[in-house]
Amino acid sequence: MKEKLKLAILFGGQSGEHEVSLMSATSVINNIDKDKYSLYLIGITKAGNWMLYDGKPNKIEDGSWEKLAVPIVFPPDPSYGGFFLLSDPSKIYKIDVIFPVMHGPHAEDGTIQGLFELAQIPYVGCDVVASSTGMDKAISKAIFQSYGLPQAKYRVILKRDFIEDREKVLSYIEDIFDYPVFIKPANLGSSVGISKCYDRNQLAEGLENASKYDRKIIVEEFIDGYEIECAVLGNNYPKASVLGQIIPCNDFYDYEAKYFGDGKSKLIIPAPLPKDISDEIQHIAIKAFKALDCSGLARVDFFVHRKTNDIYLNEINTMPGFTKISMYPKLWEESGIPYTKLMDTLIELALDRFNEKHNTYA
Ligand SMILES: Nc1ncnc2c1ncn2[C@@H]1O[C@H](COP(=O)(O)OP(=O)(O)O)[C@@H](O)[C@H]1O
Ligand SMILES: [Mg+2]
Repeated sequence: MKEKLKLAILFGGQSGEHEVSLMSATSVINNIDKDKYSLYLIGITKAGNWMLYDGKPNKIEDGSWEKLAVPIVFPPDPSYGGFFLLSDPSKIYKIDVIFPVMHGPHAEDGTIQGLFELAQIPYVGCDVVASSTGMDKAISKAIFQSYGLPQAKYRVILKRDFIEDREKVLSYIEDIFDYPVFIKPANLGSSVGISKCYDRNQLAEGLENASKYDRKIIVEEFIDGYEIECAVLGNNYPKASVLGQIIPCNDFYDYEAKYFGDGKSKLIIPAPLPKDISDEIQHIAIKAFKALDCSGLARVDFFVHRKTNDIYLNEINTMPGFTKISMYPKLWEESGIPYTKLMDTLIELALDRFNEKHNTYA
């Protein structure tokens, strides 16, 4: 019988999306084909401690796994090819492939991917440059612009400039945009630090709030549109899934609507759009994926204007939510790739990309 692949599933992490990761990873662990992979469950605490967890998956979501896990060291030195327990550096646990089921800064932004590169272990998803550009909305927007992809009007503001001369920054924004405007920290996810501002007071508050999270802030025109998402899968020849629509239960798809809306926010798959619009969105999703040189997976999010049907590319997520009811896997399920098969595909793509990079094709 073929030997099982040694798969490390990483979960948790230091970002504000730690809890989301616990949910995504539990789903991955419960649904992955155990005949094909032997699993190592590696949790990263909010403090950044790396731990091996050998217990039941149902203790991950509520955080109780932490008490049962043991500290490990995951060295960047490629001669290890894996990790060891802090209590016993003499035994090396070799890893064939890593699935970092984590979202947000220090997880989805190229930092952890850099460690995998140094250690020379294949991993699921985008590499360092695609992850970091995908995470930084100021950088990804500039790249999308250079590829001529349609986006909402935006500007990048430095927190420093806002602190030094608030009135000047407020007037600068008011000269360019009508209310409402969106204010976002450049490097975050899950709608953290995002505000929809209806007047100058709210604009000042929004900038203050976003300044807590980042030194760069995005100001963006409000698009009165349908929120549409497309899942992309592949390496050199990525494919786009059917589209999904989100109907947020709040004024916009804020943190509460995403995670605490009690299912009141709705996902509609496939999105009820005319075929020519759907085709165009899929086309742009693939262009965006290629523009950032993504690999493995990404979810590309759009607005479609309610009146004009104009398409606006909003953002790309290089490690989208991965619970069984998350948009990314659901879109593939609707497109003919069930959840378990999707994970096999992502792992194959990870190995393929690694071999391509290291030129080790047989
Ligand atoms: N320009 C915009 N026009 C209308 N709604 C927006 C705009 N930008 C963001 N939003 C709303 O805010 C939500 C979060 O913004 P997004 O840019 O997707 O950040 P995040 O990376 O946190 O998901 C979106 O899902 C949408 O509901
Ligand atoms: Mg978003």
